[in-house]
Amino acid sequence: MKLHNVNEIADHVYWVGVRDWSRRMFDALIPLPYGTTYNSYLVQGEEKSALVDTVNPGFEKELEAKIREVMDPSELDYVVMNHAEPDHAGSIPHVFSLNKKAELITSEKGAQMARIYYGTLPERIHVVKEGDTIELGGKSFEFVDAPFLHWPETIFTYLVEDKILFPCDFFGSHIAHGVYDEDVADVSVMSKRYFGEIMMPYKGMGKRALDKIKEMEIEIIAPSHGPIHKHPQRIMDLYNDWVNGATRQKVTVVYATMWGDVEKMIFPLVETLQSEGVEVAVHNLVVADIGRIAEDLVDSRAIVLGTPTVLGGAHPLAVYAAFLAKALRPPAKYAAVLTSYGWGGGALKQIADLVGPLKLEVVAALEVNGPPSGNDLSKIVEIGKTLASKVKEEK
Ligand code: FEO
Repeated sequence: MKLHNVNEIADHVYWVGVRDWSRRMFDALIPLPYGTTYNSYLVQGEEKSALVDTVNPGFEKELEAKIREVMDPSELDYVVMNHAEPDHAGSIPHVFSLNKKAELITSEKGAQMARIYYGTLPERIHVVKEGDTIELGGKSFEFVDAPFLHWPETIFTYLVEDKILFPCDFFGSHIAHGVYDEDVADVSVMSKRYFGEIMMPYKGMGKRALDKIKEMEIEIIAPSHGPIHKHPQRIMDLYNDWVNGATRQKVTVVYATMWGDVEKMIFPLVETLQSEGVEVAVHNLVVADIGRIAEDLVDSRAIVLGTPTVLGGAHPLAVYAAFLAKALRPPAKYAAVLTSYGWGGGALKQIADLVGPLKLEVVAALEVNGPPSGNDLSKIVEIGKTLASKVKEEK
């Protein structure tokens, strides 16, 4: 009796990945409200067989059982390591414990990582470069260098005859349910969130990779997380916008408030922006989902940060948000900062120092003593109008 769900996504190409329904955090940083998958693919040619990527540690036995439903893992000829991060490569030692002959296919940098992370013996590593091919008999792989998507060693694997691209993390999404894109109603939203969390800092590299694959005939994109794209053009078009930093008339507002004074500044600003026809995404940092903030930053043209002053600086949650915004390198061009203080300032300067490297045009930086006065509120309405006009005139 077969207990596992092994999907044949094309002739002799099988999804043998696993679903992690319960995982709620990735890299101790990224919330996973819907879990995730670790997609591994088994490709059988007429002469040789290959496993493309493996799965997160802890799921080795499930991966093994799924491979066994198709073939004996000791007969595998290749294990392709598109990316060395443990969620995809962490089961290589287990697969190699079952198999004494398979070669690990990876990039030059990947070879070094395989030795360090997984103790792979150099004689079992086969380094490939851009354009190299490997024949399986009636099926062949071609490899594409795709560095920093999302570690420096990353490659894409293209299965030429079936027109399937295996891009590992690129084009992925953290969703445990669904096999294909058409099975998941909000796949575009989840893909955008994932892009914001993982790929946005590497937009330039993403653009180069998209340029490389745009002439390829691709019928299926089979990433290493989330559903398989049966409609590859749809996700490629979305990525084209995102890697090129296409923004909307949209402002992402993040704030922390202790006694409500910052909220009294933020809300009139939000109302003004909305009444000027600008889309606004608002996140109170006490209850915010960091992944939703990353998703909103993907196409926001401006960022507003609100924080009280605490212990001579910005609120730690606002410091975290500013640091995260800097690290994620969103395409926003404009910013405004609203702060309040009780007896001494400091928050404004700290935030300015933190977001300085983003080279945002700071439309306004307002520091208020206590709750905002009527005069302060008038200034905030003006700030909202100025920010709205900047956001609306930018193409
Ligand atoms: Fe899904 Fe960069 O690992």
